[in-house]
Amino acid sequence: MDSLKITGGQTLNGTIPISGAKNSALKLMAASLLTREPLTLTNMPNLADTRFLSQLLASLGVEVYWPKGDNECRLNAAELTSTIAPYDQVRKMRASFNVLGPMLAREGHATVSLPGGCAIGARPVDLHLNALEALGADLKVEAGYVKAAAIHGLKGAKVVFPFVSVGATEHAMLAATLAKGETVLENAAREPEIADLADCLNKMGAKVSGAGTATVMIEGVDLLSGTQHSVMPDRIETGTYAMAAAAAGGDVTLEGAPVKALGAMIDAMLRCGVTVETDADAGTIRVQRNGSALQAINVDTQPHPGFPTDLQAQFMALMSIADGTSVIRENIFENRFMHAPELSRLGADIQVRGKEAIVQGVKQLRGAPVMATDLRASVSLVIAGLAAEGETQVNRIYHLDRGFERLEEKLSGCGALIERVDGE
Ligand code: UD1
Repeated sequence: MDSLKITGGQTLNGTIPISGAKNSALKLMAASLLTREPLTLTNMPNLADTRFLSQLLASLGVEVYWPKGDNECRLNAAELTSTIAPYDQVRKMRASFNVLGPMLAREGHATVSLPGGCAIGARPVDLHLNALEALGADLKVEAGYVKAAAIHGLKGAKVVFPFVSVGATEHAMLAATLAKGETVLENAAREPEIADLADCLNKMGAKVSGAGTATVMIEGVDLLSGTQHSVMPDRIETGTYAMAAAAAGGDVTLEGAPVKALGAMIDAMLRCGVTVETDADAGTIRVQRNGSALQAINVDTQPHPGFPTDLQAQFMALMSIADGTSVIRENIFENRFMHAPELSRLGADIQVRGKEAIVQGVKQLRGAPVMATDLRASVSLVIAGLAAEGETQVNRIYHLDRGFERLEEKLSGCGALIERVDGE
């Protein structure tokens, strides 16, 4: 297995281009199933997860044209040859489950494996299923599969989510585009990726309004067409490199950044004493820290526009070298502190108590071999390794390849000493 070797202690200086958002791309790709015409996605991130979903779509009969390394992908679902997404494919990536709603809406039936547990908590799909049932789907869960049917098509309905879920909001939105009549989603998630999906669906001829607010309305249409859409930039990748620059020190400009989607992250960095300059029109965020101390602050993860759970691990790496004590509360997932013991191997002082991690800042981290446990956790170890003295080896980096495009190249372009070591 490949690992990353990082020689810490170098400041980061330069520019980092931001890639298309993984979490947006995956749902946009699922939208290709709603139409018989080609959907062309530009600014596509080349990631293990997006490539993997393209294979699943191909196995359903979607013609995929996406040359290796290219950032443009054409998906043509003129004919579906299957409406079954098997366990082997869905268990590897939870977002694959979102092919259920579009196939059901278009073909009137679909069978998709349940995604199963995940390293960051139970992550059930009950809200997805309740929403599809509200839209008139007949669902049976058998042998780990959801068998869904809507012989006379889906019907618009009011869906009130008991709590906010990004995946369930997107799934319901995708399915409702082809339902008869109006669907209203209440207590919908407000993540920017949801607005990106709505933009693309509307270009395809859907009638979605209110995406990005807590109430999303979808007026069903009979048919959707193909279109071209540019995937929004990745706010989590942007926040990750901002924190890397703050932890290692230096002066880094993030280019093509979704500035307006990052209010909570920028606010947290400013409160820590990091210099952050933004230009929303130009899409740039400049992060500077030249020798000044980092102040420990508390953060709570919240649904958007709050502080994102997907930046919690990275922020913990930053707080591990701040002055004072930081309390980090994880409110979205129940088991998302697996990076804490690994950060401790680098000398961080972290105590986990239920939903809270209490981080007592230390003067200096020291390099050590560590193990990546999930996508965002792994990149927190990279950030800590950049700030640490000496050599850090991050093992099991296949997690990183799921979500960060050209990570070593982008960081070494700013002076980081980071290289991939081929494993057995
Ligand atoms: C998405 C993102 C993920 C991010 C998360 C929160 C993708 C591919 N993933 O995940 O990176 O960390 O949003 O911003 O876009 N829940 C239920 N029942 C459900 C659905 C969710 O109980 O049917 C729970 C989850 O276990 C979790 C919470 O709701 O505790 C929020 O999950 P959700 O917003 O759905 O996250 P994902 O869509 O899985």
